[in-house]
Amino acid sequence: MLLKEKKINKGGVQDGGEIKLSIIKVSNLSKIYGEGEVAVKALKEVSFEVDEGEFVAVMGPSGSGKSTLMNILGCLDTPTSGEYYLDGVNVSSMSEKELAKIRNLKVGFIFQTFNLLPRFSALRNVEQPMIYKGVPRQKRLKIARKALESVGLGDRLHHKPSELSGGQCQRVAIARSLVNDPQIILADEPTGNLDSKSEEDILEILNGLNEKGITIVMVTHDRVVASHAHRIVHFKDGEIIREDKTQNGINRETATRSWRDRDEIT
Ligand SMILES: Nc1ncnc2c1ncn2[C@@H]1O[C@H](COP(=O)(O)OP(=O)(O)OP(=O)(O)O)[C@@H](O)[C@H]1O
Ligand SMILES: [Mg+2]
Repeated sequence: MLLKEKKINKGGVQDGGEIKLSIIKVSNLSKIYGEGEVAVKALKEVSFEVDEGEFVAVMGPSGSGKSTLMNILGCLDTPTSGEYYLDGVNVSSMSEKELAKIRNLKVGFIFQTFNLLPRFSALRNVEQPMIYKGVPRQKRLKIARKALESVGLGDRLHHKPSELSGGQCQRVAIARSLVNDPQIILADEPTGNLDSKSEEDILEILNGLNEKGITIVMVTHDRVVASHAHRIVHFKDGEIIREDKTQNGINRETATRSWRDRDEIT
């Protein structure tokens, strides 16, 4: 069950003895919302893979199934049919409880609208995933502080979302996504609501996390934002219509190599 799907580098040559792993592998994934006449086929037999340490952008028109895919990848939803292997484990038919566990362990989520708890401070928002996990308070505070410092918000710990700018709110959301030390960050239009300076800040943080070995899948409508990824997957009407490698994709090995140097946040 825990057997990892091994993937050898292009041409069957391993990079410096390293074997690349598909941290995400979906096969013939379909998602149908509703039934009968009102049924919407949001994903139609989608198959693709993401290597460990890769940074992939997902683009496509509104309604093409991007968020549906992200929700399944993040174990927030299950497919109607098809298979999803997350880090080698088939999660497509897991119960909600099992999915929640694996989600907490492996995935950090960043949303366009930040999804912060409005009554709580930045620190408390970042603590939240650790409260679910049962981490003791002192340890929680230490990790949350460190995560906020790592996104440049060490001086905004006690500010509430309404007292922060959009870019700062998104940085809080990134800090929150990091505290359980995820292998993957899923970002659904993380810069969609931001001005260009904040957009740059967020992309710089995401690039930095990717360089430390965290795999990133990011939905965006913006070509310039997408160009920060290694590869762009284009969706249309619930299907992948094209995949492009970006300039950054050429140096993809760097991210995989630095996985071992990754300094844990804890
Ligand atoms: N909970 C739901 N119930 C019914 N239909 C849904 C549901 N969620 C999404 N859909 C439909 O599934 C299709 C794909 O939606 P999805 O949110 O994945 O698109 P998207 O590519 O993320 O679009 P956008 O760029 O606007 O965010 C759409 O036609 C949408 O109306
Ligand atoms: Mg969407």
